[in-house]
Amino acid sequence: MAKEIFAKVEQIIEEIEKAAPNDKDAVEQFRIKYLGTKNILKPLMGEIRNIPNEQKKDFGQLMNKARQAAESKFEQLQSSLDSAAEAAGAGDLDLTAPGDPIPLGSRHPIATTMNRIISIFEKMGFAIASEREIEDDWHNFTAMNTPEDHPARDMQDTYYLKDSTEMLLRTHTSSVQARMMEHNQPPIRIIAPGRVYRNETISARSHCQFHQVEGLYVDENVSFADLRQTLMYFAKEMYGADVNIRLRPSFFPFTEPSAEMDVSCFICDAKGCNVCKYTGWVEVLGCGMVDPKVLENCGIDSEKYTGFAFGMGIERQAMMLYGINDIRLLFENDVRFLKQFTSAI
Ligand code: DAH
Repeated sequence: MAKEIFAKVEQIIEEIEKAAPNDKDAVEQFRIKYLGTKNILKPLMGEIRNIPNEQKKDFGQLMNKARQAAESKFEQLQSSLDSAAEAAGAGDLDLTAPGDPIPLGSRHPIATTMNRIISIFEKMGFAIASEREIEDDWHNFTAMNTPEDHPARDMQDTYYLKDSTEMLLRTHTSSVQARMMEHNQPPIRIIAPGRVYRNETISARSHCQFHQVEGLYVDENVSFADLRQTLMYFAKEMYGADVNIRLRPSFFPFTEPSAEMDVSCFICDAKGCNVCKYTGWVEVLGCGMVDPKVLENCGIDSEKYTGFAFGMGIERQAMMLYGINDIRLLFENDVRFLKQFTSAI
């Protein structure tokens, strides 16, 4: 009797091992038959009472073996079903289909404009000087020959640091001129791109932060003709070989003589449009010969050396180049705006 029961279990194990259901339904049938609540091993367990005591342990082990065989077979069947499903899916893949597009980032129009200006002056041998945005009164104003009572120092124009009359956010990149000259002797030939701050009401045309590029060249025998030639080369590289420039007399505390440079309107070829306000000219920068007092303030011998300097705002140029009509767009970082510059380099 015991022998027969043992044989029956052995037979079931053999069946399990040989079983090869090959679809989902057949695998489910296998599960029900060997592992379901009414599986065929269950009634055999009841037979244990017909097994002599000394064989009960062996019988228990054999039953375990059967259950484990069913479990591992079922796992194996299931995983081969899964990989068959995957393989079937792969059959549907179109390996020749184009890939998903990778969204390209874009450079900010200020960075693009700035980089363009930088690379033009680099070709002429100007080095790049980066300096601090938090400045002291000396480098921003006094060394630059801006008198104590100059309106630009007024609290309304300058952001002073809390409780300070000394430390401020630089109002122009001209402060870098002072920093460069106090630590270096001529020849000095630098451009200083960077951010500047002024206490202005924010509107479509002005902002409390913007960018400038400053230029400074100090050496023996630097003349106004050198300044004019440098700016002419810059204008032609920046706006096109056909543009003209004109220099209008102006005033800045740090240059003498001083001028403002206009370029013939590159939007309308000087025919007249709303960018140049129908004058044919657009104002681009301020410039002049470095005032000897500025050279002396910074420890440079003004008998031996002369220099020229210029400074330009970047936002206005970027706005003209890209047809942007509100300066605030340049500081909001709205992706819908920035996305339009994806192809700009
Ligand atoms: N610092 C002037 C400004 O912020 C711009 C400027 C004018 C810079 C003339 C110069 C210069 O170096 O020579 O408006």
